[in-house]
Amino acid sequence: MKIGMLTGGGDCPGLNAVIRAVVRKGEEVHGYEIVGFRYGWRGVLERQVVPLTVAGTRGILPRGGTILGSSRTNPLKEADGVERCREALRAEGVDALVAIGGEDTLGVAACLAEAGTAVVGVPKTIDNDLGATEVTFGFHTAVQTATDALDRLHTTAESHDRVMVVEVMGRHAGWIALTAGMASGADVILIPERPFDIDEVCEALRRRHARGPSFSIVVVAEGATPREGTMATVSAERDEFGHVRLGGIGNRVTEEIKARTGYDTRVTILGHVLRGGTPTAYDRVLATRFGLAAIDAVADGAFGTMVALRCGRIERVPIAEAVAELRTVPPELFEEATVFFG
Ligand code: F6P
Repeated sequence: MKIGMLTGGGDCPGLNAVIRAVVRKGEEVHGYEIVGFRYGWRGVLERQVVPLTVAGTRGILPRGGTILGSSRTNPLKEADGVERCREALRAEGVDALVAIGGEDTLGVAACLAEAGTAVVGVPKTIDNDLGATEVTFGFHTAVQTATDALDRLHTTAESHDRVMVVEVMGRHAGWIALTAGMASGADVILIPERPFDIDEVCEALRRRHARGPSFSIVVVAEGATPREGTMATVSAERDEFGHVRLGGIGNRVTEEIKARTGYDTRVTILGHVLRGGTPTAYDRVLATRFGLAAIDAVADGAFGTMVALRCGRIERVPIAEAVAELRTVPPELFEEATVFFG
């Protein structure tokens, strides 16, 4: 059999570990020929194909990013996008496809599976917002990177009696903000799941500063929004999947804190730093396990499924179920963090 592989959507550390595992077991255990499509679904539509061999993927385990490249090309935006993908796979002689991505990439995979394409999904995103799996690879590394940055910002905030506002990625879910915020002892954490009142944020900072500390750390997920009518925000363009290009809430919160409290306040936007660099050991192992399970799912003909982590075991779940709804931060987890606010 000839197996195709693609990496779509925002890149993250661990993608190359998945590729390495799929190739190693696919070639050496299952005897498959494996090819990669460049730049996610764009590579399928344009038939940009590269061979993937064990020899050719040596040394990529610790490398961040994806050797295949990625994009946010969405075939579903093309009138005959699904058929064009199916035609391209047939023309390339690809018998089955391993799609590595988040809710957008796997949403396309679900449509292809529905149309009869042999596809297996692997859950990827630093946002950790894919349903049906306890965690996605990339998330652990993003949290560690954010925590390291927050620890550094803590010392400079303390040296200058400043409020440091730190914006992290997390489009629809605040998993990175909450986890890194708790790990670094943030004084306020703002997440998309809990629209905030800037007056309450400032009150928490005043309470803290009145108790002695004259510096604070405020972690803001890029997708966090103010409660209706409490604060103006900026609009932005959208990508091919209709997502607003985020960024800017950190600046707005900084301006408001400065204006309302008079505190010396600075902003740091971690942005794509959280998508870069080498994966942690945890993500290397999780990504490897996902890759091994994905190529086994291909061998078993378990198409239309996504590999998922559940209670420490790698299981297969329907892709359609995994992309049906985003996994957001539950209220009780956020409540735990609020004990340390202010
Ligand atoms: O989906 C992962 C993610 O990193 C989001 O957290 C972020 O909003 C988005 O991708 C950024 O997308 P791009 O890299 O296309 O700007």
